[in-house]
Amino acid sequence: MTKRENATEPDRRISVAPMMERTDRHDRVFLRLISGRALLYSEMISTGAIVHGGRTDLLAFDPTEHPVALQVGGADPAELAECAQIAAAFGYDEINLNVGCPSDRVQNARFGACLMAEPALVATGVRAMDAAAPIPVTVKCRIGIDERESFAELYDFANQVADAGCASLIVHARKAWLKGLSPRENREVPPLRYDVVYRLKDSMPDLEIVINGGVTDLDAVAGHLAHVDGVMIGRAAYENPYLLAEVDRRFFGGAHPVPSREAVVEALLPYIDRQCARGVPLSHITRHILGLFNGQPGARAWRRTLGETARLPNAGPEVVRQAIDQVCAARASLFIEGALRLEGMEDERERHIVGNIL
Ligand SMILES: Cc1cc2nc3c(=O)[nH]c(=O)nc-3n(C[C@H](O)[C@H](O)[C@H](O)COP(=O)(O)O)c2cc1C
Repeated sequence: MTKRENATEPDRRISVAPMMERTDRHDRVFLRLISGRALLYSEMISTGAIVHGGRTDLLAFDPTEHPVALQVGGADPAELAECAQIAAAFGYDEINLNVGCPSDRVQNARFGACLMAEPALVATGVRAMDAAAPIPVTVKCRIGIDERESFAELYDFANQVADAGCASLIVHARKAWLKGLSPRENREVPPLRYDVVYRLKDSMPDLEIVINGGVTDLDAVAGHLAHVDGVMIGRAAYENPYLLAEVDRRFFGGAHPVPSREAVVEALLPYIDRQCARGVPLSHITRHILGLFNGQPGARAWRRTLGETARLPNAGPEVVRQAIDQVCAARASLFIEGALRLEGMEDERERHIVGNIL
């Protein structure tokens, strides 16, 4: 059986993007409580750090995180192969190569987005990883870099990495400027070109293509899925994580009820207890959950309590319980305010309608 026929290939219809300083193991445990099915990517870790650094600290993850992919940054085929072996040994479901990061630090080390100009080297790296480990190898790239932005160049890049064994190509649908723009500007200034990614899929129907960039709601996900195989969501899933709540039901036919925000927090508490007992500062976990109540009554109190109190020395899980109590209090006070308004309403019909809402 070839790797691609292997039943353990993760389903990439919906994934959460690799994000440095964001999608660490705590964030992934939290996101997994909201969607059981979305594929979760790690932050980018350089091959050098994995090969020469403290592996367990960098790579260990909670078993609940599956399906989970490790993203690496590097260009040396031997190091990439070693990382693929290590990733498989740690139990990752996929290893992904970063060919999209335009930061100066990454460019100086000659990997990330600048590798789009070296498709043969990327292909050699992919081939080495694919041969070294039983897990699928994928690549995340841009639609182009600098002046190198023709469709023919993107097509050639995709063909070379596909021939080398890349199981899925994730394409951030904007080019990157290697000089003159910060990484942040490179996520905002170059225009999104979804049409280019759709055309790539049309031209390479056998290669799994996942689109990324600017997706902020599940209707947009559904729209993209009519053209490509998967959608990767980055910032929106971090800033508004509850966005993922409908993913399992809507895209994977999941029969479980959608968990409430409060249920997500309740389910996270045992994990927080365990991590705090091991000495992990509470804020390392709570910083990822600040956006959970966005747009809801009590969102501000939630953010404030977690943002301020969780950073105090010795802060423990009780801070999260306090924050939830404040969300409930904010909701109750809205209700009471509504009930008082109702009392003052003279129009019988209006009273009836508002009473039903309350
Ligand atoms: C804070 C931050 C860190 C990021 N770190 C990585 C990374 O480590 N590897 C990577 O391939 N992309 C990284 N990205 C880019 C995202 O994976 C994604 O391609 C980009 O944000 C566009 O998707 P979005 O519009 O859905 O956010 C990062 C983005 C942000 C906002």
